[in-house]
Amino acid sequence: MLIEVNEIHKVTNDIMNVLHEEELQIINDFHDAVVAKDIDKIEELFTVLIENVEDHFKTEEDMMAQSTHSNFGAHKSDHDLMRKKLAKFKKRWDVLHGPIEVQGFLEKDFKKWVTAHVAKWDADCALQLQ
Ligand SMILES: [Fe+2]
Ligand SMILES: [Fe+2]
Repeated sequence: MLIEVNEIHKVTNDIMNVLHEEELQIINDFHDAVVAKDIDKIEELFTVLIENVEDHFKTEEDMMAQSTHSNFGAHKSDHDLMRKKLAKFKKRWDVLHGPIEVQGFLEKDFKKWVTAHVAKWDADCALQLQ
């Protein structure tokens, strides 16, 4: 397991909490496949993860766009940073099929980003959507 449920900050918006719980499941399943070096499963779940992340980010951005949210730009920039990183690592995966590199990204970078992003940008966004 990469991230325990209690490591993800609960925000004051139920839609966002559900998005985060769904994504946590996919992240942990993906991490299990990466640790097991199960190439076919990694291949399948990498795409599922990227689609889920996009859906999650887009939903938050749509909610912010419909409100008078003051940090919309900065929050979206943090999403864009991770969109780019995921696309970069997926591209490298498509060529190299290297689970060690993906594992390093998930454990050293992605986990830290997700937990910090939710605790800062999503928590702040949820408060402003009330
Ligand atoms: Fe979020
Ligand atoms: Fe967010």
